[in-house]
Amino acid sequence: MNQSQDGLQQQATSGNVCFVQSYAKINLTLDVLGKRADGYHELATIMQTIDLYDTICLTRLAEDRVSMNCNRPELSNDYNLVVRAVQAVRQKLGLHQGLAIELHKRVPVAAGLGGGSSNAAATLLALQQWWNLPLSMQDLWEIAASLGSDIPFFLTGGLALCEGRGERITPLASHWPATMRWLLLVKPDISVSTAMVYRNLTPDDYTNGGWSRAAEVALQTQSKLQASDLYNSLERGVLEQYAEVARARQEMLDAGAHYVRLSGSGPTLFTTFDTLTEAAAVQQKLQSQSYEAYLTHAIHPGNNPITYF
Ligand code: C5P
Repeated sequence: MNQSQDGLQQQATSGNVCFVQSYAKINLTLDVLGKRADGYHELATIMQTIDLYDTICLTRLAEDRVSMNCNRPELSNDYNLVVRAVQAVRQKLGLHQGLAIELHKRVPVAAGLGGGSSNAAATLLALQQWWNLPLSMQDLWEIAASLGSDIPFFLTGGLALCEGRGERITPLASHWPATMRWLLLVKPDISVSTAMVYRNLTPDDYTNGGWSRAAEVALQTQSKLQASDLYNSLERGVLEQYAEVARARQEMLDAGAHYVRLSGSGPTLFTTFDTLTEAAAVQQKLQSQSYEAYLTHAIHPGNNPITYF
C-alpha cells in the first residue's frame, strides 16, 4: 500500500468534520541580528503561546477540491495559509480528498500575534491526527517552514526560543506567568506590513542576540522574567513610522501600564499585571477610548484541542 492509499484508508475510519483551535503568540524578546544573503533577517526571539484563539472547521467533501470560508471575507481566498497548508499536505501525499474549510477569526489579523501562522500549523496538526497521516514531525516542520518563518513554532507552541529565520525551535520551560500573570494586548486600528518593518530596520537596530540569550538564562535559572528583560528590535522603527502605535503606547502608560512592548512586527502592544483587578481596570480605560484591548494569559503547549465527529 502506498502512502496515498494508506492516508485514504485511514480517512474512512475517522469522521467527516474536524474542529481545531489555533492559538496566538507574543514575542517576549525579539533580537534581529542582521540581514541574510537570502533577504530574510537572522533572529533570536522568545515566543509564548497565549490564550487567544481562532477556530478552524474542516469538513470532508465528496469532490476533489478545497474551499475556504472565513468570517473575515478578505481572508476567504486560496492565499490563506490554511488553504496552503491543506494543499501542501495533499500534494506531499498525493491525496485527492476534498475539504471545505471554515475559519472563525478572533485573533486580530496582521497584528504581530502570529494568527495566520498559527492557523497553518494547527491545520497541519489536525490533518495529521484526524487522518492519521504518515507524516513525521520532521515532515510537518518542513512543510511549516516552507509556508512561513513563524509556523514551525506553532507546531509545538508554549514557550520557545526561535532562531534562524524563526524556524529553529528550542522549547523552554514556561514559568513566565508566575511573575507577570495577566497579559493585556492593545491592537491599534492600523495594519503593518511585516516585510516593510524589516525593510526599514537600520544597523543600529541590530543586536548580538543578547536580550534573548539573557532571557533564556533568566527563565532557566530564576524561572522568571522581569519587564526589563523584554525587548524588541522592531519596536523603534514601528513607533517612529506609525503615529497610531506611538499614541496607543502612550495611552496605555497613561491608563496605568507599568511598561509597554511591541509584539512581533506589531502593531499589537502588550503589557502585564500581577492582579486581575489592575489589568481589568486598565483594559476598561482603553476600551472606553475605543481601543481593541484583550485581557489574556500565557498557556502551555498541548492547548490545541482537536475534535472530530
Ligand atoms: O516568513 P514570512 O512570510 O512570515 O515573512 C514575512 C516577511 O517578513 C518576509 O517576506 C520578510 O520580508 C520578513 N522577514 C524577515 N526575516 C525573518 C522573517 C520575516 O526579513 N526572519
